[in-house]
Amino acid sequence: MEVMKIYGPTRFSGSVDVQGSKNAVLPMIAAAVINAGVTVLRNCPDISDVHDALDILKTIGCDVSFTGGVVRIDSSAPISSYIPECAMRRIRASFIFTGALLARCKEFTVSQPGGCNIGLRPVDIHLEAFKKLGANICISASEITCKGASLAPCDITLRFPSVGATENVMILASSLKGTTRIINAAREPEIEDLQYMLTSMGAKVSGAGSSVIVINGTDSPVNLDYTVMPDRVDTATYLTALACGGGSLTINKSNAKHLLSYINILKKCGMDIELHDDCIKACKSGRLHGNVSVTTTPYPGFATDMQSLLMSVLCLTDGIGLIKENIFENRFCLADTLIRMGADIRIYRRTASVRGVRALKPVCGCVCDLRSGAALAAAMMSAEGISELTNIHYIDRGYEDFAGKYQSIGAKIERIERIDA
Ligand code: UD1
Repeated sequence: MEVMKIYGPTRFSGSVDVQGSKNAVLPMIAAAVINAGVTVLRNCPDISDVHDALDILKTIGCDVSFTGGVVRIDSSAPISSYIPECAMRRIRASFIFTGALLARCKEFTVSQPGGCNIGLRPVDIHLEAFKKLGANICISASEITCKGASLAPCDITLRFPSVGATENVMILASSLKGTTRIINAAREPEIEDLQYMLTSMGAKVSGAGSSVIVINGTDSPVNLDYTVMPDRVDTATYLTALACGGGSLTINKSNAKHLLSYINILKKCGMDIELHDDCIKACKSGRLHGNVSVTTTPYPGFATDMQSLLMSVLCLTDGIGLIKENIFENRFCLADTLIRMGADIRIYRRTASVRGVRALKPVCGCVCDLRSGAALAAAMMSAEGISELTNIHYIDRGYEDFAGKYQSIGAKIERIERIDA
């Protein structure tokens, strides 16, 4: 078992480059399937979710390579419409492949997505949209099969702006001749990036970033070479570590506009953050104030991915902060470890109240999901002494060389192999 050993406290300094966006690249890897040719994606993060997504492509018949941040996908060979359960279970967002399979093979069979650590993973909104486009769906206890021999574009109103469902419909509709409109679409920046990628493939897509996306598909998508946007949660994680510890950082290759809701909360807490065109300069010199209240909502609201990060920050402020989680049900799983570190956190249903303390102490903790793992690591970097994190494969799902990159800005972190008793 690999363990992350974190030696605190940390005073950050220097500069760091943000990785390419996990949540943008995964749907693009899926979208490569609609182009029966070659897709090149640049600025791809070297994270296990990307490797697992590429393994899914290999399983269905694509030729794939990934070196130096560049993914090359050749999907010109015949594609299988079946994704086995073991491949589906590896990544949380695996249902994102279904729109592409329906487009390319006119059918798919996948296992039921089930739940994951942050909550249930229903796919009813995706399936309602596929049905509206003319697909027939058959659901058993273990599998979902969908056939769409005569799909036709139409208007689709999502009952909730689901990110995954919006992306699935965009990918599918990009291969359908005619106009599809997604109403009440998700507005996340990653949706805009997918729009640009699908447009480079030959589809005409507009409106991403607003609630109505219009897609005029093409039946002959072309080869493309596309550079993935920066990861806004990676950027937020550097700011979090700095807010928990102290010092100053220059965060390069980030797009601050994509995480303004988080930046504005940190500024309200007293962080000094300057936004520049291609970088963010941030500094934490004294204690922060934590009298803030956030509710997670779809973009441009406060992101669910950032609330675990904020919880670690609030533990070390003066005041009481409130966090209400509205998107996923189990996203406060890091609270137990933070409480063992000395944090004062109370949870009632979907709301956590966090009263700041002077300092946190080091403990051994277990990561329960990707973002809470990063949030715990940030808190541990600030705590004086040696902390340990287990289950760090969750961090590897979304962060490229987490230990190495934080070492380069002043943290002392090592990964060690521990023989299980
Ligand atoms: C979610 C986040 C997204 C984040 C991503 C990665 C939101 C709205 N979405 O996207 O910002 O980048 O995680 O962590 O914050 N739902 C249904 N039926 C469906 C699909 C979803 O009921 O068919 C519900 C989910 O249970 C959840 C909500 O809708 O409560 C948001 O789901 P969705 O946006 O689809 O999740 P992701 O695509 O994972």
